[in-house]
Amino acid sequence: ALDIQKLRDQSGFITLDSGYKNTGATKSAITFLDGEEGILRYRGYPIEQLAEQSSFLEVAYLLIYGELPTQKELESFTNEIKVHTLVNEDMRKIFDGFPVNAHPMGILSALVCSLTAFYPESMGSVTAEQERLSIVRLMAKLPTIAAWAYKNHMGHPVNYPQNRLSYCANFMHMMFALPVEEYIVNPVIEDALNTLLILHADHEQNCSTSTVRLVGSSHASLYSSISAGINALWGPLHGGANQEVIEMLEEIKADGGDVKKYVEMAKNAKTTGFRLFGFGHRVYKNFDPRAKIIKKAADKVLSSLGINDPVLEIAKQLEEAALTDPYFVERKLYPNVDFYSGIIYRALGIPTNMFTVMFALGRLPGWIAQWKEMRETKEPIGRPRQVYVGHPKRDYLDINSRS
Ligand code: ACO
Repeated sequence: ALDIQKLRDQSGFITLDSGYKNTGATKSAITFLDGEEGILRYRGYPIEQLAEQSSFLEVAYLLIYGELPTQKELESFTNEIKVHTLVNEDMRKIFDGFPVNAHPMGILSALVCSLTAFYPESMGSVTAEQERLSIVRLMAKLPTIAAWAYKNHMGHPVNYPQNRLSYCANFMHMMFALPVEEYIVNPVIEDALNTLLILHADHEQNCSTSTVRLVGSSHASLYSSISAGINALWGPLHGGANQEVIEMLEEIKADGGDVKKYVEMAKNAKTTGFRLFGFGHRVYKNFDPRAKIIKKAADKVLSSLGINDPVLEIAKQLEEAALTDPYFVERKLYPNVDFYSGIIYRALGIPTNMFTVMFALGRLPGWIAQWKEMRETKEPIGRPRQVYVGHPKRDYLDINSRS
């Protein structure tokens, strides 16, 4: 048999796969994805069934612990999360140091990393109980930190968590409750948020999840690994695309609504540098099953809330124009999860610069599950190789001899 290690040692043999387009980094039992058929399952359960019938915390439990919880397990998971929703008052001082125009994703990753300072026992070699607590704390505190990042942006005082409310309703309360009246969360909004968080909860070895696993493979703490994942998610080619989509749709609207013009521009992506945000995916070469569910949900939410958002119409026209164009057909470029999600978030009153934060709230259980799996299976430290293409050896020149 071919001894790869020996070959590597003797000849410098290395496989090169930029962007890991065809390289598996791990074995995983969490999420199944078939990009050709447009199938997505968490722990074997089809995404369509979970989005329709489950709750975000139930899905979080499923991803992290491998099985759907019993009633008792779910109650205890939910109650424990409720106990930990407050963040240390000293973290308020960190919030106060951010300028009001700070992007909430920057605040989110900084504050999550700062949890290592408040819970130093989460670092180094941790007991199973300490790991369990870190998981619960993250699930409980991320919505509080996220809502407070928004409050910082608004220059408003923060709202403390209301633990009598559900996970999603409490988040909306911390975002939008005003001191003048009791804030009652519209069930349509609560439902829509629940669905969106479920749809974002895991997506196997994407850029941010691979980041979480890679950082965690050095035995960095769960908090610092998740903070790194938040930063990876922020980029416009990944989770940041949801903000870019709405900004693009707004631009098309302001420009007279000519969707074909933008499809033409995107066809020349190499020269114009313009891509249709919310289109294309590294793995899906068929419809992204999450996009199908979100498109339906967008119609339902907007009509239940009596909102007529012209941007939804533009999105549908753009989708139709792209999907009937040979450039998009040949390259199998379909709308991805981000194409319609921003339209729902907007209808929920969430501002554009918070869209990627919403994605992070949803992706958190997936990141945790993947980090936990990586540690439990004792994966070695991640350390890719390279093919060196720089200068051959050359001698140091004194500064006065350089031209
Ligand atoms: N608009 C126009 N052309 C596109 C687009 C797009 N959105 N996406 C891909 N293409 C073209 C490329 O120019 C390339 O064309 P070529 O074959 O002539 O060279 C071909 O399709 C393949 O594209 P790659 O960039 O090689 O595909 P890759 O798998 O590396 O990228 C990605 C996937 C990053 C998602 C890409 O489709 C993209 O940039 N989309 C827009 C950003 C976006 O929506 N990101 C969110 C992804 S979902 C998520 O992360 C949650």
